[in-house]
Amino acid sequence: MAQQTALVTGASAGIGAELAKLCAADGCNLVLVARDAERLAVLAGDLARAHNIQARVLAADLADPVAPAQIFEQLQSTPIDILINNAGFGLRGAFAETDWAAHARLIEVNMTAPAHLTKLFLPGMLQRKRGRILNVASTAAFVPGPFMAMYYASKAFLLSFSESIANEVEGTGVTVTVLCPGPTRTEFFERAGITGSKLSQGPSMTAADVAGEGYRAMLAGKTQVIAGARNRWLMRGARIAPRGMLAGFTRRLNLE
Ligand SMILES: NC(=O)c1ccc[n+]([C@@H]2O[C@H](COP(=O)([O-])OP(=O)(O)OC[C@H]3O[C@@H](n4cnc5c(N)ncnc54)[C@H](OP(=O)(O)O)[C@@H]3O)[C@@H](O)[C@H]2O)c1
Repeated sequence: MAQQTALVTGASAGIGAELAKLCAADGCNLVLVARDAERLAVLAGDLARAHNIQARVLAADLADPVAPAQIFEQLQSTPIDILINNAGFGLRGAFAETDWAAHARLIEVNMTAPAHLTKLFLPGMLQRKRGRILNVASTAAFVPGPFMAMYYASKAFLLSFSESIANEVEGTGVTVTVLCPGPTRTEFFERAGITGSKLSQGPSMTAADVAGEGYRAMLAGKTQVIAGARNRWLMRGARIAPRGMLAGFTRRLNLE
């Protein structure tokens, strides 16, 4: 089989960098996307040398609505076999008091970009009857999230979207997997301004462990994977608990 190519968004840090490492270790060429070109270049160089693969850097701000089409355009001669929509960020604060511009960026990065990239790369995968898409959502997808309302809603969107497209492509040779991590030790909490929250101080997983679970589920063609036994157990409870009670619970977790 020809050497495969994986496109990983948000590859400059955290879970995305770990997913890129797993793809490279399996001999995949890489296209690494994020804003920080320098960090991407260091990772690309390290992985190319360590695994004898080609690793290309495409620096892009996925909050820019034209970014997905520009990425697709630059990859016209590079069939993408694995698309990993991992880039994302959180935003804390009472919805009424927070800046709309920040919410608009979150909508682009967490929802529009993964949907648009899927729209652009899926037809080629279907034509070749081969491909894997991995979307990184969150356990936040299963519950309402006061004081991080848009973030939780964005992950609920990504979960529903991924499960729907997974069903649409059944039997085509292409699979869609959605990974739902719980708290994970990355730059996420600092970037979201929630390092002091109960959520950030509770039990957490390493980015490598989360990425490993997501990567294996993607290769197995599973539709959904919740990272970690504890999170799977908690989300079983969330499915049957009253939504109002869940909102009260996450409200306390998200507040300092
Ligand atoms: N950490 C957790 O507790 C946790 C839990 C559940 C789900 N998740 C999800 O896991 C995914 C990865 O997050 P992480 O925990 O690994 O966080 P992280 O360490 O902060 O990494 C986030 C990645 O996304 C990229 N990114 C952010 N904004 C971007 C933009 N506008 N354009 C392009 N790339 C952008 C960042 O790169 P640049 O800054 O270089 O652009 C970085 O590579 C996210 O979707 C997050 O929502 C995280």
